[in-house]
Amino acid sequence: MNYRHSFHAGNFADLVKHALLLWLLERRQAAGPVTVIDTHAGAGVYDLTGDATRSREAEAGIARLMSAAERPPLIEALAEEVGTLNPRGATTLYPGSPLLAAGRLRAEDRYVGYELNPPVLDLLTEALAPFAGAAARGGDGFDQAAVEARKTPGALVLIDPPFERPDDYIRAADVGAAVARQDARATVAIWTPLKDMETFDGFLRRLSQSGVNGALVAEARLRPLANPMKMNGCTMVVLNPPAGAEAAASEICGWVANTLGDAGARAEVWTT
Ligand SMILES: C[S@@+](CC[C@H](N)C(=O)[O-])C[C@H]1O[C@@H](n2cnc3c(N)ncnc32)[C@H](O)[C@@H]1O
Repeated sequence: MNYRHSFHAGNFADLVKHALLLWLLERRQAAGPVTVIDTHAGAGVYDLTGDATRSREAEAGIARLMSAAERPPLIEALAEEVGTLNPRGATTLYPGSPLLAAGRLRAEDRYVGYELNPPVLDLLTEALAPFAGAAARGGDGFDQAAVEARKTPGALVLIDPPFERPDDYIRAADVGAAVARQDARATVAIWTPLKDMETFDGFLRRLSQSGVNGALVAEARLRPLANPMKMNGCTMVVLNPPAGAEAAASEICGWVANTLGDAGARAEVWTT
């Protein structure tokens, strides 16, 4: 397992994923108690003065977000979380999905994050220690998601694999579809990179063959998809999307594409 999210933390794709996660969590909480199931949790919090300085992805992502003159409300919500984590001003720490979700838990809510890599699981356990309703678990999040979701109806499930294994797309689609089919109240958000349309089309086809219709596809394209070796954009595909998801995703993806993208950047938000 080679993937290290510490190189990518705070990049444009994290911003899309995390701003939409915060909104989805708020929506679910408005409907009652919620369990967040994070199939690929990562370390929970990232030091941007380490690996991230080599990739410079956070510099092109969260650093620009924090210094932006104008931020729409759903981008501002993420800026506030990052600001709280960095009370001295400079953005040296970036919250992952576990910390963002755990920080928003009410007494009646829970968070469960799965992490397969033992040293990363240790970091996750430490990051979640202050939060009573949050648990870090070792194990394969793909295997555990549907089992856990069955125990907690109306869960919010984030599926965020590294996509370093060829079957990550297939497993993400199959697990997401299984959760969405077994519980119409569950919301499933699947993050994917956007390199070329062929791979992404195959993923959407797999979802549709698994009986999923009416998924919200939120794309932030930073440049035309001309070079399939590059992450040209990213998507969040939301199964059983709540009312208002299209507007929320348009606000987030639009801001990221327009502010952080090259010429030819654009957001596309549509329903399957
Ligand atoms: C993209 S990172 C997760 C980032 C995190 N969701 C966030 O937004 O802050 C993917 C993580 O999944 C872990 N991982 C890879 N395969 C896994 C699996 N099958 N089950 C659980 N974790 C896995 C990797 O070690 C890595 O830490």
